[in-house]
Amino acid sequence: MPRFKTILVTGGAGYIGSHCVVDLLNAGHDVIAIDNFANAVCDEEGSPALKRAQQITGKKIVFYEADLLNKPQINDIFDKHPIDCVIHFAALKAVGESMQQPLLYYQNNLLGMLNLLEIMRNHECYQMVFSSSCTVYGEPEYLPITETHPTGSITNVYGRTKYFIEEMLKDLSAADEKWNIISLRYFNPVGAHPSGLIGEDPTKEFTNLMPFMAQVALGKKPVLTVFGNDYNTPDGTGIRDYIHVMDLASGHVAALNYLGSNQVGLKVYNLGTGRGVSVKELVEVFERVTETKIPLKYVDRRLGDITAMWADATLAREELGWSTKLTIEEMCTDFWRWQTMNPDGYPKKSKKTSVIVNGNS
Ligand code: UFG
Repeated sequence: MPRFKTILVTGGAGYIGSHCVVDLLNAGHDVIAIDNFANAVCDEEGSPALKRAQQITGKKIVFYEADLLNKPQINDIFDKHPIDCVIHFAALKAVGESMQQPLLYYQNNLLGMLNLLEIMRNHECYQMVFSSSCTVYGEPEYLPITETHPTGSITNVYGRTKYFIEEMLKDLSAADEKWNIISLRYFNPVGAHPSGLIGEDPTKEFTNLMPFMAQVALGKKPVLTVFGNDYNTPDGTGIRDYIHVMDLASGHVAALNYLGSNQVGLKVYNLGTGRGVSVKELVEVFERVTETKIPLKYVDRRLGDITAMWADATLAREELGWSTKLTIEEMCTDFWRWQTMNPDGYPKKSKKTSVIVNGNS
């Protein structure tokens, strides 16, 4: 029996949220998932991703369509369920959009978090795993990046919302020792569940490398635009630490287990593989394992992009007992399986109008 039985997962219908829910169910937790469908597919019955998570695990999820900006809605959920711990994914995350609509990002990400923390405190739930990002480090001063690397010199609004929240969590845990929070700084999540049943299907225009590459491989887009081949890297293209979304999911279960037996106040951990891979390298592996050809077009660097970033994930290994297991090949194979089994993503139906769907399955 896990130490925390009932876990509230905000943003549970999204890409990372839905994969994490699978791991939580497999680890024996009860999951209450909420989502406002800002960037996740919904159908008449709720979330197709969560329906498939139930199919994969053979377990039930309680789901509510709910928005963190609607406090009474969230409060009702806490009144109804004995929530032991919250995993907080729900946030807007498009870097470009955040620069055009900063208020939207500050309102959604910061106010959403403030509401959630206040409701948690009122219900005496002080345990949280927060979905942060390696973007809080800004341009790296050294590589691989450790958790002690300075944070805050960030070039986009999205990243600043993650940074501000981490600062807020610091203040909160310093003011009240009951808080017990782990902030996980993700590197670049890619891949999909090996069943091919769940994967990444953003409802907003996406610009991330792997989904775009897969669209090109499927013939839905003519060419992959590579942003810059004049970086100071071995092949001139940008380097990132790509991490399989199932490894990322298991990092959350490890963090939960750690919170269950340690009072940490606030602790941060990098979740990455510790290995940097260039755009060109990733394309080559993708072409090889999927037996496709990706036409490339080199263009100027993308504004705000950094040259190279990869994690030192030693701390998570030593303290959480977590490390990545899946290779770049598996990230590509699993993403491709999801993409070819679901070329148009999840089945989409018209958005329903009801606000709360209790126990939708
Ligand atoms: N890239 C291309 N062509 C594309 C898309 C991306 O060449 O069409 C390149 C980028 O220039 C970069 C690499 O592929 O070198 C990865 O780009 P992504 O957009 O996939 O990922 P980012 O590293 O830019 O951003 C991701 C998340 C952010 C998060 C950030 C943290 O999307 O939310 O990691 O570093 F903040």
